Amino acid sequence: MADSQDIDFSRAMTVGEVAKRSGVPVSTLHFYERKGLIQSYRSSGNQRRYPALVLRYIAIIKAAQRTGIALEDIGAMLSQFPPGTKLSAAQWRTISSRWRAQLDQRIVQLTRLRDELDQCIGCGCLSMKDCPLRNPGDVLGQQGSGARILERPADGGQSGTNT
Ligand code: FES
Repeated sequence: MADSQDIDFSRAMTVGEVAKRSGVPVSTLHFYERKGLIQSYRSSGNQRRYPALVLRYIAIIKAAQRTGIALEDIGAMLSQFPPGTKLSAAQWRTISSRWRAQLDQRIVQLTRLRDELDQCIGCGCLSMKDCPLRNPGDVLGQQGSGARILERPADGGQSGTNT
């Protein structure tokens, strides 16, 4: 919960109002709050209330999610600012430029994957030797979890292995 001393109470909203204004389901708003992405405070009647600027935070979260930024990364970025901070244009530029760099990296990865899939379309060989998407001996899995095919280096993930 945010420190209510710093909150503009004049435009406080219930969770239902936030859901209606943002188009985000109540359950998702509660999820965001549990993850620390948004904050509420308690009214004098002990009701959960959200400041108007929560709508800006939700817009940022949704925009980031649409570009494939993980919720953990979104939370880490937003946690740099005190709860209830009205992000300045400069702060938003900093955030969006970092996310743009991540998006650029994903575009490079996805473009390479698309080009490799072009080679596989109509082939079906899954050749240990020739198919770029083949993962012989689960070499990539030994390097860690996650989207290893997508994240592998340009040499196909074979660097650093003894095979
Ligand atoms: S399936 Fe033949 S090259 Fe990928």
